[in-house]
Amino acid sequence: VATIDPRLGRELTAIVGEAHCLLEPELTAPYCTDWTGRFRGKTTGVVRPADTAEVAAVLTACGRVGQPVVPQGGNTGLVGGGVPRDGELVLSLRRLHSLAEPDGEAGVLQAGAGTTLAAAQAAAAAAGFELGIDLAARDSATLGGMVATNAGGIHVLRHGPMRARLAGVEAVSADGQIVRRMDGLVKDNVGYDLTGLLVGSEGTLAVVTEVLLRLVPTPERRITALVGLAGATEHEGQPGVAAAVTVTAALRRHLPGLEAAELILPAGMELVCRHAGLPRPPAPEAAAWLVIEVADSRDPTEEMAAALEHPLVLDAAVADSEGPRSRLWAYRERHTEAISSLGVPHKLDVAFPLGRLAAFAAALEVELARAAPPESHLICFGHVGDGNLHVNLVGPAPEDTRLDDLVLRLTLAHGGSISAEHGIGQAKRAWLHQARSAADVAWMQRVKGAFDPDGLLNPGVLFDRST
Ligand code: MLT
Ligand code: ZN
Repeated sequence: VATIDPRLGRELTAIVGEAHCLLEPELTAPYCTDWTGRFRGKTTGVVRPADTAEVAAVLTACGRVGQPVVPQGGNTGLVGGGVPRDGELVLSLRRLHSLAEPDGEAGVLQAGAGTTLAAAQAAAAAAGFELGIDLAARDSATLGGMVATNAGGIHVLRHGPMRARLAGVEAVSADGQIVRRMDGLVKDNVGYDLTGLLVGSEGTLAVVTEVLLRLVPTPERRITALVGLAGATEHEGQPGVAAAVTVTAALRRHLPGLEAAELILPAGMELVCRHAGLPRPPAPEAAAWLVIEVADSRDPTEEMAAALEHPLVLDAAVADSEGPRSRLWAYRERHTEAISSLGVPHKLDVAFPLGRLAAFAAALEVELARAAPPESHLICFGHVGDGNLHVNLVGPAPEDTRLDDLVLRLTLAHGGSISAEHGIGQAKRAWLHQARSAADVAWMQRVKGAFDPDGLLNPGVLFDRST
């Protein structure tokens, strides 16, 4: 437990009201541990402002006494970037959940940072639109957090990550200044792209309070398939991953409406079926499965069937209506909870040029077979269309990073990125200097210093505290 400066405590209570200034450890505890249970720290308190003006007042008050702050949305982050570490105040944005009517003319939706992805998706759907971004944590993940982490998910293949979906933001700086870039202009070259700079900044530059999202029209037809694949043994690398890469490349060429190409491997399939009680998948002995989704204005069934006429495709289950489609998605989407049921996971979210993914996966299996304790689990799955593999390790203690380091070292050796879509947070900050050049890190530190000279916003995330 960390205690708050009594004057600051009174000031914060006056700003947000007693009910939304939580200082008792029993009340603050849920805000102090991340979703995986791996990252936990202590806080001086949790404040839950109602609007942008209150956020600005909270940051101004904290700035006056040098109180560090951790912005937090739905607390679904996976790199420990949204939980306090050592006495920071948690600034919960969840009450900023305003949601405007979609603007069909401009094709945008305005929403408060604390709006969940699912709520924004429902609002868009009611007006005949989609957001073009989706992920399994949709019921809890908030839009502000998704901006802060440049969240990806299952439709990046077609519509890009949060960066591509964002038409504007409103944000508050560490010293309480509010900047609004919410006009949604397609062309607007007046100065630096501050909106773009805040995307993926992990709460270290400013606090996002409102977002403007681009909409895409709801497609007439959407079909989902769970496809079992034979191992691509003639290719280099892990045979299941090589098959998934090969088939995804073919699907991409032949299916312009391809929205998702998600990879499941045998260890994950076996676990998710057992954990979630799912029936045996098509081609139960497959080397890998793809969950693919195609959306179009006309029926893509025949086009998809033709594209699946591939020598590596063993069998497929296809669904074109809501219930059956989500039953197929369950095999992929329930991976995260199934893995957590084994223990506290180490989540290494890495990305590669597609041609290198299978070689990395093969090297990973070899190196972990040598280095990991026998009782540990390695479950890999991910967004194969984006070259993004989620490497999950269960077994090592939460603070034991030896195998994390092995995975990240191997990632860099194979020309990959140590963070595809989850961010750096506190989990990978020790690796920043290996993943970016010295000049690159220096530029980022200059940006940080310009926005937050006293280092009060999310200290210990992205950079070491000392830098
Ligand atoms: C996913 O793709 O399901 C998310 O990134 C969550 C995870 O990696 O567990
Ligand atoms: Zn993911």
